[in-house]
Amino acid sequence: MVIKDLEDYAKENHVPIMEHDGIEFLTKYIKEHEEIKNILEIGCAIGYSAIRMALIRDDIHVTTIERDQERYLKAKENVSAFHLEDRITILFQDALEVELNEQYDFIFIDAAKSQYIKFFEKFTPLLSENGVVFSDNLLFHGYTKQKERIESKNLRQLVQKIRKYIVYLKENKNYVTEFYDVGDGIAVTKRR
Ligand SMILES: C[S@@+](CC[C@H](N)C(=O)[O-])C[C@H]1O[C@@H](n2cnc3c(N)ncnc32)[C@H](O)[C@@H]1O
Repeated sequence: MVIKDLEDYAKENHVPIMEHDGIEFLTKYIKEHEEIKNILEIGCAIGYSAIRMALIRDDIHVTTIERDQERYLKAKENVSAFHLEDRITILFQDALEVELNEQYDFIFIDAAKSQYIKFFEKFTPLLSENGVVFSDNLLFHGYTKQKERIESKNLRQLVQKIRKYIVYLKENKNYVTEFYDVGDGIAVTKRR
């Protein structure tokens, strides 16, 4: 199995995985920061980004969380196909119910967009001293910057939640965030 097989599967089965530019940006960041060894991912889907991150260096370990059973099982299969069982731990659980007590150098938030503030508040206490949080989908296909009213109520509410998260990051007194219009919009957050 090769990475392209995962991308093809995601496309054919409508599994949302990171966009090309976004995953390139994320993996480049990890490559350039050798101190990143222990990674936590919220939102595993079929294991695509977890596998991409684990393949960067042999000393990287990824813990990733997925609540959808079909995707979790597929992720397990994919991780085995890449012989990465020792370096990728997949938790089949709702991230908001998971109990972890390790420290992480890198936390990647890529799950339910409506819960980003909750994920941030739950997991940032686990961040190592110089750790970093990556949040994906802050552009949300351009909707978060759209000035015109969004017709669909559900979509409008979701976009409002993402906008709220952006404001939350901008106004956070303990963390400083840089926003990048790359892929579907990425925020990189560090302690002040
Ligand atoms: C965008 S996909 C993740 C893509 C993956 N990071 C990648 O790029 O390969 C988001 C995943 O998060 C899962 N998810 C959403 N909310 C969750 C939660 N509260 N706990 C665990 N998983 C969640 C969804 O089932 C979905 O598979």
